[in-house]
Order: sequence, then C-alpha cells, then structure tokens
Amino acid sequence: MISKAVERAFNDQLAAETYSAYLYWSMSAALEEMQMPGFAHWMRVQAQEEMAHAMKFYRHLVERGGRVKLGAIAAPPTDWESPAKMFEDVLKHERHVTSLIHKLVETAAQEKDYAAGVFLQWFVSEQVEEEAAAELVLVKIRMVQDSQGGLYMLDKEMGQRGAGD
Ligand code: FEO
Repeated sequence: MISKAVERAFNDQLAAETYSAYLYWSMSAALEEMQMPGFAHWMRVQAQEEMAHAMKFYRHLVERGGRVKLGAIAAPPTDWESPAKMFEDVLKHERHVTSLIHKLVETAAQEKDYAAGVFLQWFVSEQVEEEAAAELVLVKIRMVQDSQGGLYMLDKEMGQRGAGD
C-alpha cells in the first residue's frame, strides 16, 4: 500500500514529468522553425525520455496499489529568441525538477515509505545527468554562437543523439 501523501506527490510528479515532455516538444517545434533539425531531434529524444519518466511514476503507483489520477497539463511557452536562451530555460527547468525530486524523497522519508525511497534514488541520479547534459549543451552553444559554421556543425552533432543517450 501507499500513503495518501505519497500517492498525491507521485501523481503531481507524473504531471510534472509530462509537462517536461510538453515543454521539450514545444522547444523541438521552435527549433524546427529556426532551421536547426539536429537540435530539434535532440529535443524530441529528450521529450520521449520525459514520457518514460512519467510512466515510471505511473507504474510505481499501479504496483503499490495506489490510484493514478491524471491532472491538467499547462501549455508550455512557444517562443525563444535563440538556442542559447532556450538551453538556459532547459537548465533552469531541470534544476526545478531536481528540487521536486528532492522534495519527493523528503515526503517518502516522512511517510516511512522505504520502497518509494529506493524507487526515487534512480531519479536523484538521473537529475544529476539531466542537469549536466543541459549545461554541456549550453557551454557548446556559447562557444560557437557567433559563428554560423560552428552552429551548423553543432546542429549536426546534436542530430546524432540516440534514444538511450
Ligand atoms: Fe524527467 Fe528531465 O527530468
């Protein structure tokens, strides 16, 4: 069984992960408009990862006898003035998600829900990777942002991202 507090918190996180997918799809569409197909591909893969994260919370709720209650997902922003500004938003968003995960760990501990605590450890590590990946892309964009050729090459590199990367 799962406590009501953990059930509520997991449903909130299921929604937050789905919003992340929405946000990254929106970014992917904006990148297509900027004629950056490699970046758009990278962002689509990121959105798929977020849906996989949402599904992990869904599965955990089901396995523990909790109820999945899907809430409304807010509309994400649609416009960014540059890839640099966009990746600043990605990093900010991932830092926000990290804080949500940490709050979930605290809730699980307060509820003495050890199974949820173990489940959440994967997300604690994943957030370290998520922030590092966003930061790395941002550093690369800043290196080349004044060079059309550099951005073109970076777009090609971003297009190489595989489903599990
Ligand atoms: Fe699901 Fe990007 O954290």
